Amino acid sequence: MPATDIAQLSEVDQAFLDQYLPKSCHSSQPSGTPEHNDLPFVTLTYACSLDGMIALAPGVRTSLSGPETKSMTHYLRLKHEAILVGAGTAVADAPSLNCRYPGAGLDLQPRPIIVDPKGRWEVDGSAVGKLAEEKKGKKPWVVSLSAGGSGRARRLVMEESNDGTMRWEEVLKALKAEGINSVMIEGGATVINTLLARPDLVNLVIVTIAPTWLGQGGLAACPSAITENGQRVNAARLRETVWRQFGADAVLCGRLGG
Ligand SMILES: NC(=O)c1ccc[n+]([C@@H]2O[C@H](COP(=O)([O-])OP(=O)(O)OC[C@H]3O[C@@H](n4cnc5c(N)ncnc54)[C@H](OP(=O)(O)O)[C@@H]3O)[C@@H](O)[C@H]2O)c1
Repeated sequence: MPATDIAQLSEVDQAFLDQYLPKSCHSSQPSGTPEHNDLPFVTLTYACSLDGMIALAPGVRTSLSGPETKSMTHYLRLKHEAILVGAGTAVADAPSLNCRYPGAGLDLQPRPIIVDPKGRWEVDGSAVGKLAEEKKGKKPWVVSLSAGGSGRARRLVMEESNDGTMRWEEVLKALKAEGINSVMIEGGATVINTLLARPDLVNLVIVTIAPTWLGQGGLAACPSAITENGQRVNAARLRETVWRQFGADAVLCGRLGG
């Protein structure tokens, strides 16, 4: 079991989050909604500043969460079968993508998944690869446009869409077909912004808002603008929102898609 800098959440904090989470980490069924057969339950989660930035600049690792929201992140990791990040985050932040919540042994670890179409991220020498080797985390999966890579990460090969990317719907369906019922998507900016442009695919959004401004030139959580009948309309909007303070940070939970 990994040594942990993460504290157990209070029962009230757990209840605040549990009302939005899948019934169990082995189900894609959120409370009160019908089970979707071919997609996992998707939680999109990130930390941002008061000016809506997730990093000081592209590729710059930026600390935003306080200790309480860091513990919350690890509680959320415990409640999902997989954690997904984009190649930009995997390379820039070298995240461990494991769960250090008290009591989380190997059986409760989420599957680390990196969306890396061009094979930019190397499992060899990575924190994720090291944790898997030490049996403190699961073997990572890489969602890619081509086969190959190290045997220390499993590759799921996707078809390239017309714009050279991978369709989120296809990626999520592939994860579900591989037995992933719930996935916590942690960023970075490209992943967040392209998923906010497909709100139908995202069940739950959990945003940590830190009491700081990162300033202009930061990396924003901000999806593309939407126009309907020649008029600008909101890009996405959460429903059933609740807010709670964790330490110095505010945490917002709300439903987006199904
Ligand atoms: N505050 C927070 O909560 C938080 C969380 C995570 C990360 N971050 C920050 O975010 C920054 C990284 O953001 P980022 O936008 O550079 O990277 P990112 O979103 O982590 O990864 C983007 C890359 O992933 C691949 N990708 C993502 N979606 C894809 C799709 N649908 N189809 C094909 N490829 C796809 C592409 O790789 P290719 O370029 O190889 O095609 C794309 O350039 C870092 O500064 C990091 O510190 C902040």
